[in-house]
Amino acid sequence: MPDPQGNIIGIVEDFKDMRERNRFYEKIQQQQDLINAVLNATPELIALKDTNHIYRLANPAFYDFFNIKQKDVSGLTDFDLFPKEKALKYRIHDTETINSLTKHISDEKMNNIWFQTIRTPVINDKKKCTGVLYSFYDISHRKMLELKLIDLNKSLEVSVDNRTKELKNTNKKLQKEVNERKQTEKALKKSEKELRYLSKELLKRIEKERKHIAMELHDVIGRSLTAIKFKIESIISIKDNTDLKTQLLQTINLIKQAIEDVRDISVNLCPSILNDLGIVATISWFCREFEKIYPWIFTEKSINMIEKQIPEEIKIVIFRVMQEAMNNIAKHCYCDTIMIRLNKDNEKIVFEVEDTGNGFDVKAQLNKKGYNKGFGLVSMKERIELSGGTFKIISRIGSGTIIHGSWPLFREYLS
Ligand SMILES: Nc1ncnc2c1ncn2[C@@H]1O[C@H](COP(=O)(O)OP(=O)(O)OP(=O)(O)O)[C@@H](O)[C@H]1O
Ligand SMILES: [Mg+2]
Repeated sequence: MPDPQGNIIGIVEDFKDMRERNRFYEKIQQQQDLINAVLNATPELIALKDTNHIYRLANPAFYDFFNIKQKDVSGLTDFDLFPKEKALKYRIHDTETINSLTKHISDEKMNNIWFQTIRTPVINDKKKCTGVLYSFYDISHRKMLELKLIDLNKSLEVSVDNRTKELKNTNKKLQKEVNERKQTEKALKKSEKELRYLSKELLKRIEKERKHIAMELHDVIGRSLTAIKFKIESIISIKDNTDLKTQLLQTINLIKQAIEDVRDISVNLCPSILNDLGIVATISWFCREFEKIYPWIFTEKSINMIEKQIPEEIKIVIFRVMQEAMNNIAKHCYCDTIMIRLNKDNEKIVFEVEDTGNGFDVKAQLNKKGYNKGFGLVSMKERIELSGGTFKIISRIGSGTIIHGSWPLFREYLS
């Protein structure tokens, strides 16, 4: 209000303006109270710095932590609170926040406590940064778990490493073992092959030897016996001694029997009929001879193959198997009928000797060890398998036995 000279001597305030201003201050005070209440209540450390890196305010958690008084906070810088190196680092972070107008988050360790520090730029309505608001969250627990996890990961890595090394070593050893086993298998296969070859050769030699012995028996012993018989017959014709004659005639009968026996042995060793007339005729001849010796056993034959369909090397096998199977029947089983089959079945030669006798436990018999294990079944199996065939014994106690051998029938023998 001016005096008459025009000098200002007072202010006239509109009552209405005053009321509005008071209401405005009241509102500001309310907001200030609210901010203070939040700052006081929060357990996190909160502080505000201006753009010159000077602290302007802080909450009780903050000044309690740094052991400073509330009134002393304003005007401090990081150099008053932290070692120089850290203070410099924080200044760089502050500058980044002020320039980029974006939050900056980092993990910091202070007084042995881990904090997550969030720097939030305070931006005015002109989009200018006026300060940096700090909040420090205690993340020691999380950090401890993280460190434990890192430790755990490290020890896990170490044990994985150790385990991998162990596995590598085991793998190496296994590989070595596999290689050794492969070598052994190879050697075994080789010696098995050699053994098969030797067995085959042995059987061939046996057959050859038998043939030789049969010939020697027939030609040498047989001929000598015939000569002795002839000589005795000539003595009988000259000497007139009835007593001596009778004795010599008896001797001749014995010699005749010996000649017959030699022939039988020789035929059994190697029947010339097999070479001369073939396997089909030999089977019939063998059955006739068998029935002569064992007249209570009747032999039946079923043969639907012709001679040229059967390979030479299989013929002798069939003969030997038949010989052994029928000898076994005569020796071990009480039966009156034998069925012999030589048939073409599904491109195979199938030879079977079946009896209606008492049968036997095949598994137990084949597993037998020692002196009481016979040789016949094994030799039949060997002969059939070595000639490329398959051997089977089908036997049921009380129902008889089938000795079975089969060989693939090759194209050249089909027709
Ligand atoms: N057809 C069969 N019926 C009943 N039992 C049989 C028959 N064939 C063989 N066996 C049984 O199997 C056993 C073994 O026969 P295998 O021919 O191997 O030997 P073995 O005849 O006793 O003696 P060998 O060495 O003189 O042939 C016989 O002792 C007998 O108990
Ligand atoms: Mg036998």
